[in-house]
Amino acid sequence: MNILILGSGGREHAFAWKIAQSKWCDKLFVAPGNAGTADCATNVNMKVSDFTAMEKFCVENKIELVLPGGEEALVKGIYDYFLANENLKHIPVIGPSKLGAELEGSKSFAKKFMVKHKIPTAAYLEITKQNLEEGKKYLQQSSLPIVLKADGLAAGKGVVICNSHEEALQELHAMINDAKFGEASAKVVVEQFLSGIEMSVFVLTDGKNTLILPTAKDYKRVGDGDTGLNTGGMGAISPVPFATKELMQKVKTQIIEPTILGLQKDEIVYKGFIYFGLMIVGGEPFTIEYNCRMGDPETEVVMPRIENDLVELMMAVALNKIEDFTLIENQKAACTVVLAAKGYPTDAEIGEEIIIQKAEADEIIFHAGTKINAQNKMVTAGGRVLMITALEKDLNLARNKAITLANKGFFKHQLFRKDIGQDVCE
Ligand code: AMP
Ligand code: GLY
Repeated sequence: MNILILGSGGREHAFAWKIAQSKWCDKLFVAPGNAGTADCATNVNMKVSDFTAMEKFCVENKIELVLPGGEEALVKGIYDYFLANENLKHIPVIGPSKLGAELEGSKSFAKKFMVKHKIPTAAYLEITKQNLEEGKKYLQQSSLPIVLKADGLAAGKGVVICNSHEEALQELHAMINDAKFGEASAKVVVEQFLSGIEMSVFVLTDGKNTLILPTAKDYKRVGDGDTGLNTGGMGAISPVPFATKELMQKVKTQIIEPTILGLQKDEIVYKGFIYFGLMIVGGEPFTIEYNCRMGDPETEVVMPRIENDLVELMMAVALNKIEDFTLIENQKAACTVVLAAKGYPTDAEIGEEIIIQKAEADEIIFHAGTKINAQNKMVTAGGRVLMITALEKDLNLARNKAITLANKGFFKHQLFRKDIGQDVCE
């Protein structure tokens, strides 16, 4: 079958790499893609939110499955758009309906959903201009630190952790009165700070049953030792060494199952990936966020550890047959290290020439911000440029392998964290 992936990051390259290996895949397209996806698929110059162009493309190229990599198209309602369109309704879109995507698109929606369905999460209050005075009082009485979250999508920047009450009040003012994140911060979720260790759990669901995918942990700060600015993610590992059977059983019964049942009870159509951002506090899992898609760079360690045919799994989602499948997980550990451009995450310098080093067995070089320029040279084209993934018998060996390859040097001013996975190595 012909398949279209939407996006241009390392996550989409990892999806393309995996799908290209499927016995069911004939032609594979990535819109808009990057220099790496061009190696295993055909790049298409099309915006992920241009549904009109997508309709024409899907019809002309006999597309039979669409996989949106990021949240943008999903939050904009690609699932509903396809279903309502005579030319497209036979094409499964792997993801939630527009309403389901609100689990990521609106923190307030997600919090209400969690409370309603008794899914463990941090205590919170929702604040708008209407209850600003109540909100300020709540802030003053909250213990420190205080977590403020813009309700809507804010390019990953909408969560601010404040260490004093003054800072929290200023931030609340900036978000609500000064529209710091535009419309996205007209509503703010103020949340209790949870102190623990984070991990990501992913499932693929047909809305009724789920397949739990390999666990992962990402590293969001730009610098070693989790210092510096927040980024889209500087590296990831899979599996998570502390995700014991006992912990995963709790995650399953206290978080995953109530989420799926909640979606059913609320009649929210959801046929795709759910990303549970968890905080483990004293051995107990709490949900700090839902995303309606896979993580980036987590996908770059999760996909290489799945041995099933991904197209088969996605078709099972479309046909409500995911219960017929069991996940086959590669027993090796994976580590991915992000090579970022100088200046990332604020002002990344782009246009540097890239030399792709040779990858050995169990080493995969995923592309994110890469492109071929007018002189036919591969150059950096974004903040996160390459994700260097390595698999090995254990996490320590996988880390060393990824770092050794990264150290060979891919572009002049590459930056990467040397401590991905170090905190959880046994
Ligand atoms: P989010 O955009 O919701 O993933 O939040 C970004 C980051 O903020 C998370 O990855 C956590 O590190 C942190 N965070 C969010 N909510 C909380 C919370 N309630 N307690 C502690 N840290 C949090
Ligand atoms: N790695 C974090 C995310 O994809 O949201």
